[in-house]
Amino acid sequence: MPRTVALLPPGPKSPRAVQTLAWWTRSVPLYERCRARYGKRFTLRLLQAPPSVHLSDPAEVKEVFTAPPEVLHPGEGARVLEPVVGANSVILLDERPHLSQRKLMLPAFHGERMEALTGLLEDVTEREVGAWPTDRPVALHPRLQQLTMEVILRAVFGLDPGSRLDTIRERLTKNLEMGAKPGSMLPFLQRGRPWEEFMRRRDETDALLFELIDERRAEPNGEERDDVLAMLLAARHEDGSPMSKQELRDELMTLLVAGHETTASELAWAFERLARTPDVTRRLLAEIDSGDGDAYLTATLHETLRRRPVIPNAAPRLTMEPVEVGGFRYPEGVCLIPNAYLIHHDPEIYPDPYAFRPERFLDESPGTYTWIPFGGGRRRCLGASFALLEMKIVLRAVLSRAEPAPAPDLTEGSRRRAITLSPRRSAVTVLRSRARDRAPVAA
Ligand code: HEM
Repeated sequence: MPRTVALLPPGPKSPRAVQTLAWWTRSVPLYERCRARYGKRFTLRLLQAPPSVHLSDPAEVKEVFTAPPEVLHPGEGARVLEPVVGANSVILLDERPHLSQRKLMLPAFHGERMEALTGLLEDVTEREVGAWPTDRPVALHPRLQQLTMEVILRAVFGLDPGSRLDTIRERLTKNLEMGAKPGSMLPFLQRGRPWEEFMRRRDETDALLFELIDERRAEPNGEERDDVLAMLLAARHEDGSPMSKQELRDELMTLLVAGHETTASELAWAFERLARTPDVTRRLLAEIDSGDGDAYLTATLHETLRRRPVIPNAAPRLTMEPVEVGGFRYPEGVCLIPNAYLIHHDPEIYPDPYAFRPERFLDESPGTYTWIPFGGGRRRCLGASFALLEMKIVLRAVLSRAEPAPAPDLTEGSRRRAITLSPRRSAVTVLRSRARDRAPVAA
């Protein structure tokens, strides 16, 4: 047995193919079984991947999130995304190149920028949600995918309604669908007709994005708009140069891939949970109707992200040199993985962890290392405040019209779509119209 393997924490002994299948099809039960058997750190061995050590002790996760950038490389594990996001993507980089790309992007996601985007996000949301049917079962997940796609194209790419937006939306939707199929991004499957069509659609989209970037650069006020592209156009490298066209394209695609399906699935889970916990829904409706702040809405989103983290673990961090975490010495060439799902369902941290109870977060903010749906450290999700703002706007828009109830005879499980865990049966929900519940304002 090679020395590296002997040094790792224990884990299942089954063949790699069996572990890979279990991880792909039923990762949550696999994680729970492993924790019950091996404790808060265990090793999985998957096909075509270095050994993965899952960590669910917050103290160890802190050590991982705060380790020096040259020791752990999260960028390495994301290589499969390169055909979509491009080589400049912040997600694929490590060390200095990662830090400098991240610095260029951070200002676009600051608080005051998010505030400036609120009106646009509300408009897009109203238009989409207003068309949703009420009082009959409706599959929410595909509608939420459409909504979050529109939000990114308008608020991040800065596209105005029109034929360019329509063409880009159509091409990207097809390519993302293909990317969500198991294994479709693996290099040995990148051939044949479907792959050629994927590349053709990608090139057509890129041409339109380059055209958009040229136009925006030429506009006298092109950097003054509220969208994320405006901030990226205004960003400057350390030597004072602007981001290249290819860099801009790669980061826009990164934001789409990172921010579209994640937010759609998380919102789908929010509705799935609310439909099944009427007490929580009632309290939330009362807050929304009163117009008195958003403390319970915020707590409900924190609880949704705890109970249903759509990315069940932070990006795998590949060890570039031997490193000690939690008193355990890991050799080079191992992936250390902070496991959000297990931390979020640890009864020592969250009593009665499977209950959906936003009250947990009413008096206490989520902990940096005990609530990690957005990962942590210098790789923490760049779009966390964008996602929270968007989710608040969508929940408010839907709940002021309708009350979610589960579709009859339907239970919901989860399934893996590319990088996210989404509702297996598309979060079919009945949105019971609230119009009839409301007393008329005047006789
Ligand atoms: C509910 C929605 C979302 C969830 C649960 C989520 C979760 C995550 C997670 C777990 C990571 C990896 C962090 C780590 O390994 O430490 C990540 C990274 C990232 N996310 Fe999100 N995300 C969401 C929405 C968004 C949105 C809306 C955007 C942008 C518009 C975005 C942009 C990014 C980017 C750029 C990274 C890479 C950061 C880096 O490598 O430095 N995400 N996200």
